[in-house]
Amino acid sequence: MGKYADFYRRSMDDKAGFWAEQARLINWHTPFEQVLDDSRLPFARWFVGGRTNLCHNAVDRHLATRPEQKAIVYLSTETGQEGSYTYRELHAEVNRVAAMIAGLGVSKGDRVIIYMPMVPEAVFAMLACARIGAIHSVVFGGFAANSLATRIDDAKPKLLITSDAGMRGGKTILYKPLVDEALNLAQNPPDKVLLFRRGLDADLAWNAGRDVDWAELRARHLDAEVEPVWLESSEPSYILYTSGTTGKPKGVQRNTGGYAVALAASMKHIYTGRAGETMFTSSDIGWVVGHSYIVYGPLIAGMTTIVYEGLPIRPDPGIWWKIVQDNRVNVMFTSPTAVRVLKKQPPEYLHKYDVSSLRSLYLAGEPLDEPTARWIADALGVNIIDNYWQTETGWPILSSVPAIEDLPRKFGSPGFAVYGFDLKLLDERTGQEVGADEKGVLTAIPPLPPGCLTTVWGDDKRFVNTYFSNFENVLAYSTFDWATRDADGYYFILGRTDDVINVAGHRLGTREIEEAVSAHPAIAEVAVVGVHDEVKGQAVMAFAVVKDAGRTATPEATAALEKEVMATVDRELGAIARPARVCFVTLLPKTRSGKLLRRSIQALAEGREAGDLTTLDDPSALEQIKAAVAAWKSGKA
Ligand code: PRX
Repeated sequence: MGKYADFYRRSMDDKAGFWAEQARLINWHTPFEQVLDDSRLPFARWFVGGRTNLCHNAVDRHLATRPEQKAIVYLSTETGQEGSYTYRELHAEVNRVAAMIAGLGVSKGDRVIIYMPMVPEAVFAMLACARIGAIHSVVFGGFAANSLATRIDDAKPKLLITSDAGMRGGKTILYKPLVDEALNLAQNPPDKVLLFRRGLDADLAWNAGRDVDWAELRARHLDAEVEPVWLESSEPSYILYTSGTTGKPKGVQRNTGGYAVALAASMKHIYTGRAGETMFTSSDIGWVVGHSYIVYGPLIAGMTTIVYEGLPIRPDPGIWWKIVQDNRVNVMFTSPTAVRVLKKQPPEYLHKYDVSSLRSLYLAGEPLDEPTARWIADALGVNIIDNYWQTETGWPILSSVPAIEDLPRKFGSPGFAVYGFDLKLLDERTGQEVGADEKGVLTAIPPLPPGCLTTVWGDDKRFVNTYFSNFENVLAYSTFDWATRDADGYYFILGRTDDVINVAGHRLGTREIEEAVSAHPAIAEVAVVGVHDEVKGQAVMAFAVVKDAGRTATPEATAALEKEVMATVDRELGAIARPARVCFVTLLPKTRSGKLLRRSIQALAEGREAGDLTTLDDPSALEQIKAAVAAWKSGKA
């Protein structure tokens, strides 16, 4: 057997031995008594009785060995701000913020919502929560007031930490008015809002008694030292909301010890990041990639992490390669969409900079098509490593594991099963394993390895029902992705089994967008589907029925209504969920029992056959979708 095959086998056959070894990669305040408690599957507890702290592992433990090494390099091509923090400085900042939030009444187990742009203070806030055992829930800055309010009501935070504004593409996005609106909408708003002012909002509305100024409070805690709170391994570190089949986002709950170990191990074996090296992950702290590989992963590994606010093409399409050159970046992580955007730019930008420090480029979040993979591999001349995972797992399920054995990669495949994941491709109906090259649902047999979600926040039942109840005869975690596996063990991802849409690596729920569209008073009914998009992977398309035909009586009226509907989605959910097109029809294709035939709509929108239509109620509905798509494709709709 090969080296990786051995490594993987051991992670299956000797779980306790395997993970006890990986657990040595982090510091424990109290050693664990038991590696794994799987007596209540699908619930699993890793490193039972062990006490540790994520912030200690990400910050304090490097003070002895690398106090003057940069921990964070900050760069905003939006505001022009640049700076860096050594591990010593990061430690001081995190202690200050820990004292600040503790002073505002936050203690172990309390939730803190962080709604911030890509500034170092956002990272301090996350680490400060982890330090005192508070549970952070970072909400992506692109989400609208309503989305924020939903998350507030679910997490019931003691404190919300925000900033006056973010910037994107030269445009200031005010956060504070949106936070104020969200707090008005929420049933259980927190008492306090800690506000980091970047000076981007001249007319900032101040709510005395509730709003607390970051800089003022920080000035009172300059010398603060706050001892880490040692959490039992299974105690929660954070909640991160993600979309699924229903309109209500799920709070993915992460533990402490398992997550720290999983990240430390993945940094070593998969991302090959060594202490003293630099990692540049171009995600956002609002997403799981940001949590794991901007903040916790690289810092636990003792690396320098780049916190970047900006686009890949501003001020010009060479900016990322300039960042790589200037910071001698060794490991980079981005999305296929970003690479497709860069691929459209003049090639000279790539060759303008010295990127010889770069060893590997990791891509995840959406399918990596072969032409894009080939293009970037040729252009950069480094390893391109496609890795597949989810908010739920927190780290890769499928990948190459180059530090164990650098097996050949196959274009179009994110690689093979990562150690710790007992993967099975199951037939959707029978739950039986499918054969080589046959399509099945990608599942993992519990216990899930350390680092994966331990439950849905506040809802154990939903955790079991959503993820572990999809097959009658087998207890398996469903990824909700279709996949095949070839005879060599390489997997190929074929798309979601549910109605999740993936736009530029951002995971969006169909129902959530449908609810947002329906918030427009003129809309009677709507179907939202994801259609193939050359750059973003998928684009959101909405097919809507209006209550009053007068609203679409003329092309001008139709165009105006389409704009209004888009603005409604911006307001309800956020611009990331805005449909690329809203087409108006008088009828949606449904089964006789009234179920929307989304798959057929999607097929037609992508120019494919509509599929099995035996249950279709009224065929004229499909004709309307076809006509709308044809009009849209000819650019005149
Ligand atoms: O459908 C898969 C797709 O993104 C989903 C997870 O999205 P999210 O929770 O935002 O986590 C992203 C973490 C990287 C998956 O269910 N997906 C993710 N990575 C890949 C992918 N599809 C194909 N190839 C990938 N490498």
